[in-house]
Amino acid sequence: TPAPFAADTPDRGDHADHMAKEIGEQPAIVATILDRVGRRTVDGSTWAGLGLPAFDRLAVVACGTSLHAGQVVAGVLRRLGGVPTDVVAASESDQVVLAPGTLVVAISRSGETADVLRALERFEDRHPVLALTNDVHSSLARRADAVLDCDAGPEVGVTATKTFTAQVVVGVTAVVSALVASGRLDPTRAAALVDELAELPGRMAAAAAVAADRVPLLAATVRDAPGLLFLGRGPGLPYAAEGALKTTELSYRWAQAHPAGELKHGPLALVDEGIPVVVVDHGDHRLRADVAEVRARGALVVTIGGADSDVPALTASRNATADLAWGRGTAPWGPVEAVVPLQMLARELALQAGCDVDKPRGTARAVGGA
Ligand code: AGP
Repeated sequence: TPAPFAADTPDRGDHADHMAKEIGEQPAIVATILDRVGRRTVDGSTWAGLGLPAFDRLAVVACGTSLHAGQVVAGVLRRLGGVPTDVVAASESDQVVLAPGTLVVAISRSGETADVLRALERFEDRHPVLALTNDVHSSLARRADAVLDCDAGPEVGVTATKTFTAQVVVGVTAVVSALVASGRLDPTRAAALVDELAELPGRMAAAAAVAADRVPLLAATVRDAPGLLFLGRGPGLPYAAEGALKTTELSYRWAQAHPAGELKHGPLALVDEGIPVVVVDHGDHRLRADVAEVRARGALVVTIGGADSDVPALTASRNATADLAWGRGTAPWGPVEAVVPLQMLARELALQAGCDVDKPRGTARAVGGA
């Protein structure tokens, strides 16, 4: 396990902590990745250069934050190319049988997570493996048939932030490239998608600016709540899950993510007067009814994103909506920019609870095996 603060630890500059610095680096990281791979996405050469065999299905294998990035990548392949995908929590890989013709994409920031390496033992003899990692010298990278570098630079914060975004953008461009290379996607459409991705740095910066204004008061408002519920639908779900994970691992309180459509099948029982419900709104009109449902039970609704947010300002009272909207419809990769305010909210909740955001308890840079 690498030391969290090695001799070459980057300076955090004027930032209060490494996590704040790394959250702030995300727009530039996305821009750099797109500069590097944009053209190669459109002509299919990123994928062709990996030298992997053709595949009929894809299975993502990962843990934690990397699993959420994998959900985004798998969703893009499914939505754009109609390719069947599985998303497998590496710790549960012994419960899974993969169909012939499946390409395994193992995603790991560290490339050393024991459950991911153990999952490879099950799959690598029968399936080609593509590694998506921030450490191209890791055990995962050495064992894979091909490697994609997330190229996010060193992440000092134990909690993954910028590497999540890098995994999403590198993974999404890779699968778009794969669809072009296999003739499933027209290069013109791929070029339009790359143009749309190129809007992300600006949107992430705008989301950060809105969140910087509103998150401190918002965190203070929900500070005494026993826990938080995160809701999303479809492409918004991986981001809701990531928001809940960040909140739990940084501020040490329960936070659950659920598909909003599942509310009435049980989770609604958690919603009571003053319970914060964070809704990742990617523009699905059904979320309005979901919001109305929890608001009717007294929830403090926090809307992240969405063009149609109904209450434009943060108010610190119950039954209010804290609106972190900056507008936008749905892309096949969902509302990537939503992760910025979600990370900032989790960090602020942790700081207000006196927690160390760079070295939270209960998590490690690379998680070994039991
Ligand atoms: C990230 O904030 C978490 N600490 C954790 O979920 C992490 O994503 C998980 O352990 C997987 O790590 P990896 O990406 O290095 O494999």
